[in-house]
Amino acid sequence: MMKGLHVHGVSHAFDGHPVLDNASLTIPAGELVCLLGPSGSGKSTLLRIAAGLERLQRGRITIDEQVVAEPGTHVPPEDRGIGLMFQDYALFPHLTIVDNVTFGLSRQPRHRARKRAMEMLEQVGMEGHAGKHPHMLSGGQQQRVALARALAPEPRLVLLDEPFSGLDTSMRAKIREDTLSVLKQSGIATLMVTHDPEEAMFMADRIKVLSHDGRILQAGRPADIYYQPVDEYVAMLFGHMNLIHGVVSEGAVDSPMGRIAVDGIDEGRAVKVLIRPEGFVLTNGVDGGVGTPVEVISTHLLGHSSIVRLRVREGKNMGAEFQVRVPGSFDAAEKGRLSARIDAHHAFVYPEG
Ligand SMILES: Nc1ncnc2c1ncn2[C@@H]1O[C@H](COP(=O)(O)OP(=O)(O)OP(=O)(O)O)[C@@H](O)[C@H]1O
Ligand SMILES: [Mg+2]
Repeated sequence: MMKGLHVHGVSHAFDGHPVLDNASLTIPAGELVCLLGPSGSGKSTLLRIAAGLERLQRGRITIDEQVVAEPGTHVPPEDRGIGLMFQDYALFPHLTIVDNVTFGLSRQPRHRARKRAMEMLEQVGMEGHAGKHPHMLSGGQQQRVALARALAPEPRLVLLDEPFSGLDTSMRAKIREDTLSVLKQSGIATLMVTHDPEEAMFMADRIKVLSHDGRILQAGRPADIYYQPVDEYVAMLFGHMNLIHGVVSEGAVDSPMGRIAVDGIDEGRAVKVLIRPEGFVLTNGVDGGVGTPVEVISTHLLGHSSIVRLRVREGKNMGAEFQVRVPGSFDAAEKGRLSARIDAHHAFVYPEG
């Protein structure tokens, strides 16, 4: 038996407007899959259908091989064996922390439920706050309690909808790590929704990228999504790209910083080349003739990296500008004369139009 979540060909519409178009996914036990997509692409809708909060219209959902939803079948959310955690999953304000976690364990004898709740609070590092009320905790602490509550009943599947988006950056990083380690220890299937690509990269074993109209554009490991994006939209998920227009000739396309090999696109075809800002190699001096001489227009320190604008100094592409990301700070005066070339791992070629 294959444990985990299966979503088979789910399509969904609200008042005649299609939201999901034949979405399928499989999450084996122990794996975390992220749904990544723009606002309105149907991420929460798919999650709510899996949870049973929204009635399925077309397709089928199984959890540990039990059909929980298909046309004519609707297992209610509380009988699906799922743990839920949302961005604004408010804890019950009038209950203590431990009672919040015990809430979903009402089928167990009270002392057993309490023992389990304390174990879960310990796992998320909140056992010292058991007797407090939610308003006495920070947002991050409340989110840990929500995680403990979701996992306490030993669900078969955990569904997370942008669980960290209400937290500030430093808190988010920490809670994200802790949540991941708790989920990995529990060995259950997890479906998480986010529109933050970095969060998806960090958390996911596999990522499903949804289009604005609810189709799955690409599915793969984080490295596949980053290094082999199937189209311009997926490539652009990770932010600004440098754009060059060109034509395929002899299996490559010209760029101001050398030729870029093209695979699987016909000769003579007009193409777009997208190059990530981190996809440049900068060297001092003339780089033995491999790089293109460039000058620095501006630099901006962002913290752990800098954004540097470069302009080609000579040749037929003189004046072409690029945005480059380099680790740490960047002192243009100290670097002297610079050459730049493109790292092919960060350059993507797609047919125009
Ligand atoms: N109950 C509903 N009734 C009518 N339309 C709905 C309902 N729920 C969602 N929609 C619509 O379905 C589309 C998808 O919504 P959904 O909440 O699934 O998007 P999302 O991908 O989670 O977006 P976000 O990133 O903003 O959370 C949106 O156009 C939304 O307005
Ligand atoms: Mg949503």
